[in-house]
Amino acid sequence: MPQYQISHSPKLSGEVAISTAKNAVLPILAASLLTHEEIILHQIPFLTDVRHMADVLRSCGAEVSQQDRDIRIRALSASSPRDAALLRTMRASVLVMGPILARAGECVLSMPGGCAIGQRPIDLHLKGLQKLSARVEQDGGTVRVSGALRSANIYLDFPSVGATENLIMAATLTRGVTRIENAAKEPEIVDLCHFLTAMGARIAGAGTANITVEGVECLHGAEYTPIPDRIEAGTLACAAALTEGSVLLVGARTDHMRALLFKLSESGVICQEDARGLRLRGKARHPMEARTLSYPGFPTDMQAPLMVVATQTHGLSVFLETIFENRYMHVVELKRLGAHIRVEGQLALIQGGHILNGASVTATDLRAAAALMLAGLAAQGQTLISDPGGHLMRGYERLEEKLRALGAEAEKVAD
Ligand code: UD1
Repeated sequence: MPQYQISHSPKLSGEVAISTAKNAVLPILAASLLTHEEIILHQIPFLTDVRHMADVLRSCGAEVSQQDRDIRIRALSASSPRDAALLRTMRASVLVMGPILARAGECVLSMPGGCAIGQRPIDLHLKGLQKLSARVEQDGGTVRVSGALRSANIYLDFPSVGATENLIMAATLTRGVTRIENAAKEPEIVDLCHFLTAMGARIAGAGTANITVEGVECLHGAEYTPIPDRIEAGTLACAAALTEGSVLLVGARTDHMRALLFKLSESGVICQEDARGLRLRGKARHPMEARTLSYPGFPTDMQAPLMVVATQTHGLSVFLETIFENRYMHVVELKRLGAHIRVEGQLALIQGGHILNGASVTATDLRAAAALMLAGLAAQGQTLISDPGGHLMRGYERLEEKLRALGAEAEKVAD
């Protein structure tokens, strides 16, 4: 079981490079199934989720090879993934549904797994595909979508990131013009659309709530480098905000991080865009209010890391989680370290100013794992984080090493 030991690290300084975004890489890997030509992706981070997605693609019939940080994919054919256990390890495996259906006319999938941060149904994916004339049959834990797709106007009841991505991918090979209203606007959606456009897709409106996809006969090979990870950058920005330091996050896209940077600035951290990325100086002091929303609102993935920052400010912070129904699992663990937090449904009240003391804690999901690592920096003494689900490595590329590069005492003590 992976375990990490973090010691009180009152000052972080120096620079660290931001990896490419997990949440951009996963849909882009799925989109590679849309063509029989070769796809070459650069700067791919070493993450368990990426490795799993590569295995999912293999299980769909694609050849996938990796050399250092470059991945090559060739899907001469694309069929339903055969390895059901693999699908259950990762929610994002549902993203192969749109591409396989569009290319092969049928996709059978085990319902996906992933972090237990909420119910995470896929009804919006399925309703959208039904609008595109797909037949949807569900049987226990399996779903089958099939049929020739026809373009349609789709309205998403909620701007789901995954549903928007699945529907865009399915629509690229669907004759006619498909319109998706109330689409998600996340930078990762825009990145997926840039990649699909490089493959020959015709897409307008990416990054807005109205996306239009004009179907083409076929897509071709492409070479692409995904965007930097705004959540990794945000997590490291929160680490910096816990200490009196000066940190440069090389490659961070500040334009993707406005909501978080606004919170940190309000709290007293100096956040400056630099030609090389994002520079942060000083410590967060003032309490804050944060309500998670779809992009460009405050990201739910940053809620746990920012909550750690809130525990070290002077006063009462108020957080509201509106995206996932079970995303306060880190609170119990933060309380073990001495944080004063009260959760009432979607609301969390964080009374800052209490000293945290190192203890043994357990990571319950991906962002909770990162939050505990940050809490370890702020806590007196040593904090031991057990991560039985291997959550941290799913989405962060050696976070402990990146923190160490900034002067923190953080290391992985067990695999
Ligand atoms: C993606 C991100 C995840 C992030 C989340 C919200 C990836 C690989 N993961 O997850 O890191 O936390 O966006 O920004 O990109 N929902 C439904 N029905 C559906 C689909 C979603 O009710 O068919 C609900 C979910 O249960 C959740 C909310 O919508 O409450 C948001 O989910 P969604 O935007 O789809 O997130 P993911 O794509 O799973």
